[in-house]
Amino acid sequence: MRAVVLRRFGGPGQLRTESVPEPAPREGESVIDVTLAGLNFADLEIREGAYAPPPLPAVLGVDVVGRRRSDGRRVAALLREGGGYAQAAVARDACTVHVPDHIDDAQALGLLEQGSTAYGALVTAGRLRPGESVAVAAAAGGVGHLAVQLALALGARTVAGIASTPAKRRFVRSLGARVAVGAPERLSEELPEGVDLYLDSVGGPALRAGLAALAPFGRLVTIGERGAGPGSSVPVEELTGSSVGVHGFWMRHVLADPALFARTADALFTLAGRGQVRARVDRVVPLDGVGAAHEAMAARETLGKVLVDVRA
Ligand SMILES: NC(=O)c1ccc[n+]([C@@H]2O[C@H](COP(=O)([O-])OP(=O)(O)OC[C@H]3O[C@@H](n4cnc5c(N)ncnc54)[C@H](OP(=O)(O)O)[C@@H]3O)[C@@H](O)[C@H]2O)c1
Repeated sequence: MRAVVLRRFGGPGQLRTESVPEPAPREGESVIDVTLAGLNFADLEIREGAYAPPPLPAVLGVDVVGRRRSDGRRVAALLREGGGYAQAAVARDACTVHVPDHIDDAQALGLLEQGSTAYGALVTAGRLRPGESVAVAAAAGGVGHLAVQLALALGARTVAGIASTPAKRRFVRSLGARVAVGAPERLSEELPEGVDLYLDSVGGPALRAGLAALAPFGRLVTIGERGAGPGSSVPVEELTGSSVGVHGFWMRHVLADPALFARTADALFTLAGRGQVRARVDRVVPLDGVGAAHEAMAARETLGKVLVDVRA
C-alpha cells in the first residue's frame, strides 16, 4: 500500500510517499481500507519530534474514515498510535464508530477527532450549561470552528471567538459567534462582564489572558500541548482571588472510556444530522500533498479541517 512515511524528525520535507507493507491487526483491532485521513495540529509537533515522538520510521495521522475490511461497514476511527496517512490502517475496535448514512466521509472525519475534542472540552470537562457565555481560542481552526458551533447548539448565550486575521474572524462570525477578536486581551472590550467558559488551545501568555477574561466562577479548559510551555503556570492564589478554575482535557481519557467515546460521537453525529454542527473542509490533498498541507497549517493558513484523499 502507499503511505506517507517519516524516517527522520524535521520539517515537512521529511514526509515522503512510499510503498510499505500493510499493518497487521492484533486482538481487538481491525483493518480499515481508508478513504480519507485527517491532519491535526499535533501531527506537526510529532513530525518535529517535539511531542510524543514515535519510533521511526513512522506513519503519522490519528483519524481515518473508510470501510472495515472484516464486514465492509463504513467506519471512522481514532488511532492513538498513528498510521492514518495510508491506504490501510489498523484501528482499535473500541476507538472505532459506525458512520450513519446521513453523514458523508468528509463530515465524519471532520467531526470525529476535533469535534470530540471540542465536545469533551466544553461538555465533559467544561460542564457547559445553557445560558452561559463561551470564548474559544483559535476559533477558525479544526477544533475551534466546531467548538463555536457546539457551544451555540448546546445553548450558550453568547459565543466569542479569537482568530488572527480578518478573514478568519469573518468566518467565525458566520458560524454564529457574536464576537470575534484578534487576541484574548480584547475580549474585555466586547464582554466586560467576563465569560463563563474559555476554551484555550494556545497556552503561554494567551492562556493567562484567557484566565483574565473569565467572570467570577468561570472555568478555563486547556487542550493545547503547548499549554505546558513557559508562561502557562498559574498561581493557585490567583484562582482563589478571582473565583475561577483551570481544567485540562486530553482525548486519550475519552478513548480510554469506550462508552464515553461512543456517546460523544453519537452526540456529534446527531447534531450534525440536525444541521447544527458542520465541519468546514479547508482542502483535500493527495498523499503527495501532505508535506505542503503541514506547511499551510504551520503558517496558520487553514480554516477548519484538512483532509487527505489517500486514493489520490
Ligand atoms: N487535548 C487534546 O486531546 C487535543 C486534541 C486535539 C487537538 N488538540 C489541540 O487543539 C489545538 C487545535 O488543533 P487543530 O488540529 O484543530 O489545529 P487548528 O486549530 O486547525 O490549527 C492551529 C491554529 O492555532 C492557532 N495558533 C495559535 N498559535 C499558533 C502558533 N504559534 N503556530 C501555529 N498556529 C497557532 C492558529 O489560529 P490563529 O491564526 O487564528 O491564531 C492556527 O490556525 C492544537 O493545539 C492541538 O494540539 C488537543
